[in-house]
Amino acid sequence: MSVIHILSSTDRPGSNAMKVSTYVERILSRHATTKLFSLCDFPVKDVHGGPYGDIPESVQSFNNEFLKADGFLFVIPEYNGGFPGVLKLFYDYLPFPDAMEKKPVSLVGEAMGAFGALRPVEQFEQLLKYRKAYVYPERMFIQRVHKSFDQETGLNDETMQGLFESQLTNFPAFVDMIRDTESVQA
Ligand SMILES: Cc1cc2nc3c(=O)[nH]c(=O)nc-3n(C[C@H](O)[C@H](O)[C@H](O)COP(=O)(O)O)c2cc1C
Repeated sequence: MSVIHILSSTDRPGSNAMKVSTYVERILSRHATTKLFSLCDFPVKDVHGGPYGDIPESVQSFNNEFLKADGFLFVIPEYNGGFPGVLKLFYDYLPFPDAMEKKPVSLVGEAMGAFGALRPVEQFEQLLKYRKAYVYPERMFIQRVHKSFDQETGLNDETMQGLFESQLTNFPAFVDMIRDTESVQA
């Protein structure tokens, strides 16, 4: 089984990103070994002052744990038409240039608004492609998350739930395929 790490991509306490991530982990764990991470645990205080060339141990340790996976799923909320600043901060402290290279990545957006974090997901996709990740084509945009989503049962809308389940059940096979291809080439 491949290892997939899920990131709740905000540091807001009580976030919907964490609720969605918890649900996502439950479904993914049927097909992969999973672990859930939260940017609530990213040591923001230790990067005050911009120690880019001398990455603090706390950040290295967060990164090392997160990166021990064959694939990643980011749950991304929409803040002011973009993704949360703490996600960019985290991303800027990942090892350069290869942290995401040839890594399969799946994306789930969620927002109060009507567009379900389409904007932040597509913005973050650009950053992933810049770092040569393999972005999984099935994505989910959860609109009106406070009304449309339940942590136990998923999405209220049957069609949307079908698409969500398709993404979550097919992504592990995509991760397996890339892991197997990379190990043959190594
Ligand atoms: C700083 C901030 C900015 C936000 N901006 C937007 C926005 O531009 N569009 C939107 O639909 N919702 C916006 N929201 C609402 C979030 O989408 C909402 O809180 C949702 O639950 C997802 O965020 P969460 O994972 O932190 O709960 C914003 C929330 C915060 C805290």
